[in-house]
Amino acid sequence: MTLCMVGTGYVGLVSGACFAETGQTVVCADKDESKIQMLEGGKIPIFEPGLEEVVERSVAAGRLSFTSDVAAAIRDAEVVFVAVGTPPRADGGADLSAVDAVARSVAEHAEREMVLVLKSTVPVGTNRRVRRIVADAPHPIHVVSNPEFLKEGEAVNDFLRPDRVVIGCDSDDEFARGVMSRLYHPVCLDRNRMVWMDPASAELTKYVANTMLAMRISFMNEISQLCEKVGADVHSVRHGVGSDSRIGPKFLYAGPGYGGSCFPKDVKALVHTAREAGLELELVATTDRVNARQKGVLLRKIRAHFADDLRGKRIAVWGVAFKPRTDDIRDSASLTLVDALLADGAEVILHDPEALDNARARYGDRVEYAATAYGAAEGADALCLLTEWREYQNPDFGRLKEQMRGTLLLDGRNIWSTYGLRGQGFHYDGIGVHGS
Ligand SMILES: NC(=O)c1ccc[n+]([C@@H]2O[C@H](COP(=O)([O-])OP(=O)(O)OC[C@H]3O[C@@H](n4cnc5c(N)ncnc54)[C@H](O)[C@@H]3O)[C@@H](O)[C@H]2O)c1
Repeated sequence: MTLCMVGTGYVGLVSGACFAETGQTVVCADKDESKIQMLEGGKIPIFEPGLEEVVERSVAAGRLSFTSDVAAAIRDAEVVFVAVGTPPRADGGADLSAVDAVARSVAEHAEREMVLVLKSTVPVGTNRRVRRIVADAPHPIHVVSNPEFLKEGEAVNDFLRPDRVVIGCDSDDEFARGVMSRLYHPVCLDRNRMVWMDPASAELTKYVANTMLAMRISFMNEISQLCEKVGADVHSVRHGVGSDSRIGPKFLYAGPGYGGSCFPKDVKALVHTAREAGLELELVATTDRVNARQKGVLLRKIRAHFADDLRGKRIAVWGVAFKPRTDDIRDSASLTLVDALLADGAEVILHDPEALDNARARYGDRVEYAATAYGAAEGADALCLLTEWREYQNPDFGRLKEQMRGTLLLDGRNIWSTYGLRGQGFHYDGIGVHGS
């Protein structure tokens, strides 16, 4: 089949390359010409482990190509995927202008009966809305909802070995069902991973899944605050709770607040969807509020340590990406911290193995950038760990002690809590852990 992926970002590029890997012919289209030029020149605009090899292989085999001529790519396609951004509006709802634009383009340029697949995360009702937009197209357009569940940092593996593939499709739409079954068959060979449902349920499933995960994190972040008050250790509590097979161990880590391009916006969008339907989702709204408060946790600790005067203090931040194995800094807890440190008059030195280019695009010369983790710590009054990249997990603390001007180590990921750092002359603090 000939596929067109409209939107060549984290989701579109990974999905397009992986479909090409399974033998489909894929054109990845994007209105961002500089991105397309990079891809045509053999460069991958994002850091995503394993993606470069998949892209290279499929391009060399002639199955994957790139274009900024979105209309032409739609014209040639049998299946068009929508993988454009759906950023939050000021009122918390999702901005669907890019989705609508692609739908209008499909209505105008499609030259055959085809399937239009909504892969972007979109609120309930978007499938219906898109059907209205394409209703008068000269050829039948079958609109399917197929939300994407890949995780940045694991995206290629998640796409090729998914836990499940959710497909929202009318039960009597044999054309669309046939196309979707065929497309996903290669990644569902070992067992049936396709979960079929109506489009509204598919749209909601994506938001509920992300919110459930965000809620677990916010819950443990709240519990970490309680641990600090009552002298408990959130590591131990997590371990004790997560070993219950009904609960499981994942997404129970206290930290500096969840970030990324999905959880914050999707939680807000679910609250918004419910409000529009006349319902207040209390748990979901609170998940968002707890996270906003948690994003100030490290700043409060730094201010307390320096008696509320950060002017001229050099604060090193290890990690800008919202999690390891990605260069994505969207809504990262690091950004909240750095913004606040700068507003308080501190000097900030950033290190991240992959995300410094994105940090530079945001902060320019308002912060310093270090080529190495140790370089960032040089002369620092405090060192904050924000992203649990492997290289930060077991640093040479003797070397850090010599390099730093001050002694404050703030461990936003609770990785160093058992290392006996207080005995080495540091002021160690984590998030809801005893530390040593
Ligand atoms: N990033 C993730 O981990 C992830 C995971 C699952 C779902 N999603 C969802 O997938 C969607 C895309 O996310 P992303 O992270 O890939 O976004 P992104 O910002 O990385 O990529 C979106 C791309 O769409 C392009 N675009 C926007 N409007 C366009 C138009 N009219 N025509 C052509 N191209 C256009 C942009 O230039 C950009 O390259 C969002 O709805 C997101 O919530 C993201």
